[in-house]
Amino acid sequence: MASGTASPELEVIGREGELSRLRDFVLGEPNERVVVLSGGPGVGKTTLWEAAVAASTEQGAHVLSARAAEAEKTLPFATLSDLFQWIPIEAGPDLPEPQRRALDVALLRAEPAGAPAKTRAIALGVLSVLRSLAVERPVLVAIDDVQWTDAASMEALAFAARRLDGESVRIMLARRPGRPTPLEQATASRATGLILEGLSLGAVRRLLATRLELVLSRRVVRQVFEGTLGNPLFVLELGRTLTEVGPPAIGEELALPDSLDELLGARASAAPKPRRALLAVALGGGLTVSELVELVGDDALEAAVERGLLLEEDGRLRPSHPLLAAALLKRVRARERRELHRALAEVVSEPARRARHLALAATLPDTELARIVAAGAAGALARGATQQAVELAEQALRLTPTGAAERHERVLELAEWLKRANEVSR
Ligand SMILES: Nc1ncnc2c1ncn2[C@@H]1O[C@H](COP(=O)(O)OP(=O)(O)OP(=O)(O)O)[C@@H](O)[C@H]1O
Ligand SMILES: [Mg+2]
Repeated sequence: MASGTASPELEVIGREGELSRLRDFVLGEPNERVVVLSGGPGVGKTTLWEAAVAASTEQGAHVLSARAAEAEKTLPFATLSDLFQWIPIEAGPDLPEPQRRALDVALLRAEPAGAPAKTRAIALGVLSVLRSLAVERPVLVAIDDVQWTDAASMEALAFAARRLDGESVRIMLARRPGRPTPLEQATASRATGLILEGLSLGAVRRLLATRLELVLSRRVVRQVFEGTLGNPLFVLELGRTLTEVGPPAIGEELALPDSLDELLGARASAAPKPRRALLAVALGGGLTVSELVELVGDDALEAAVERGLLLEEDGRLRPSHPLLAAALLKRVRARERRELHRALAEVVSEPARRARHLALAATLPDTELARIVAAGAAGALARGATQQAVELAEQALRLTPTGAAERHERVLELAEWLKRANEVSR
């Protein structure tokens, strides 16, 4: 998405201080290049990130935004495609032809032709586009769940970010705690952190009242607050349960489930059809509405959306919350995953994606399958998607029977591509 988001407009409760800080950041001094919103699962990073994206658009910034998704981490240039979705990449004095071409191929706007796209040309193209946009008005590059940005996008963005100087380009990242991504490492000297904590007691009360129309006594609100440490996702899931079972009697403890994961797992698994739809999206990597309908049918999709498991955005589906998908994936056996990967291979048309699903569905070596996966790897390389090429080449090798004639060639190929993947542009 380029501006705003397609999620329903929900009131942001509390967070006034954080939001005003983010507003100032976008239009402030360029010595602060990057802001990293971090905090535990469900604490409200995406909510704040969305509000900041909307506010920046309103203030006249040029906003390029993307939500990285766990299922799309293996899809090369997924994040970059989202960021550049509404940006026409045109040849001009700022964008030399090889860069335009490399970007077009990487973002699937043109077919690869001739030599594989050079990672460097793609990254330079990103830098040129950001610079030329920033001449018009301040630019905000906003990525939610940056830890799931695919490797190809990450590399290009880190390259560009390192070379930005006085330009009015800001980067806002949201992420769970963990190791900094290459993009953050590239900009560490000009980055500031914003750590989100749980909501206050008053905000928890307002959250329950506005989102679930649940008005509880002071005593029970306090129990919810203490049991969840104000984590809004946990508060909402617990609130949903309280709506069903009713509040605890005086003197009784709030029956707090062991974990948020348990609550989410139960919701994700409650009915078989929506569960399958959610699982397909979790494994599918950027599944479109028509692909999912072909796989599970209209009614399963509808039921999953109605139950609040899936959201549709720009014709693609995503889990309504990443933790919901994670909770379900944890409860699924390998066999069921493989079965679904096999079915996914039937509905996705892009060769590299199809090859990946076929590989993940297979346990044993198979000459013909290995050939298809190796072809998928070569296709990925032609797009400049080195990391994906390496992953598929590894799978192709795993599926090549011992003693097969192609084995030697595949080992050499993999070695060559691994070398290229490690030559991260500096
Ligand atoms: N300030 C807020 N006001 C109202 N609702 C909120 C607020 N913060 C979070 N929520 C709600 O709580 C839930 C979890 O929030 P959100 O998805 O933003 O968390 P997150 O930190 O991004 O989680 P994750 O780490 O899994 O990405 C959502 O349903 C969201 O609408
Ligand atoms: Mg989030």
